[in-house]
Amino acid sequence: MSSPPTILVFDSGLGGLTVLREIVDARRDAHYIYVADDAFFPYGHHTEDQIIARVVPLIGELTARHAPDLVVIACNTASTLVMSHLRSAYDVPFVGTVPAIKPACAGSRTKRVSVLGTRGTVQREYTKRLIEDFAQGCEVTLVGSAELASLAEAALNGNEVRDDDIAAELAPCFVGEGDARTDTVVLACTHYPLLLDRLTRLAPWPVDWIDPAPAIARRVSDLLGSPGNESDRAGAEMIFTSGRPHRLSRALMPFFGGRVPA
Ligand code: DGL
Repeated sequence: MSSPPTILVFDSGLGGLTVLREIVDARRDAHYIYVADDAFFPYGHHTEDQIIARVVPLIGELTARHAPDLVVIACNTASTLVMSHLRSAYDVPFVGTVPAIKPACAGSRTKRVSVLGTRGTVQREYTKRLIEDFAQGCEVTLVGSAELASLAEAALNGNEVRDDDIAAELAPCFVGEGDARTDTVVLACTHYPLLLDRLTRLAPWPVDWIDPAPAIARRVSDLLGSPGNESDRAGAEMIFTSGRPHRLSRALMPFFGGRVPA
């Protein structure tokens, strides 16, 4: 492990920032490289073969160029497919992001849980296996959203996003009534916590929203070992695969713990 350690956080776009901010909070001593594969966004619209063919060589190039000590795939749509390919191809430790079905079902009192993800994520065999193994008697509703990740990006970019458009993507999560209605929604796409205030306001009734980011941050911190005292030197970089210059650094600073990403 180098000192300070370098952590590369990867997503199809800006959603992985919701994972990054938890990791930065847990580990201020690390150097961060955030990669948004915006040239291929949204992953939810691509086939499984296309995502594997895109992500596996791209991570190879990124790890060769930046020599990270650890890579976080902060994307459910990719992690539910590529983790075993990445681990067998490259030596660097990987941490993935997959739907938090186990803690959601453990905490549900009504035993009605919805999983809100991209269409790709909710169709994955991996996600179905998580439900078989961890539903713990809950009825689990899978909701594939075509547009919510793009709406979250638009909102973060300062564009107007209509409540109706968000509410329409959210509505299928809310099933049942009385004591047998949904009480827990798994945020199975890292973009969705960007909209959490609006999801909460637009929900037909209050639910627990399950975001895996804090658990991922704990896992990363465990793998890194004890923190060093390098926080003053550790910086941050942001890479867009499209190569476009980004105009977001002020809006993005909070996700990087106040650092200005180069
Ligand atoms: N942020 C990604 C996820 O966690 C997906 C968004 C997309 O590219 O469709 O699934």
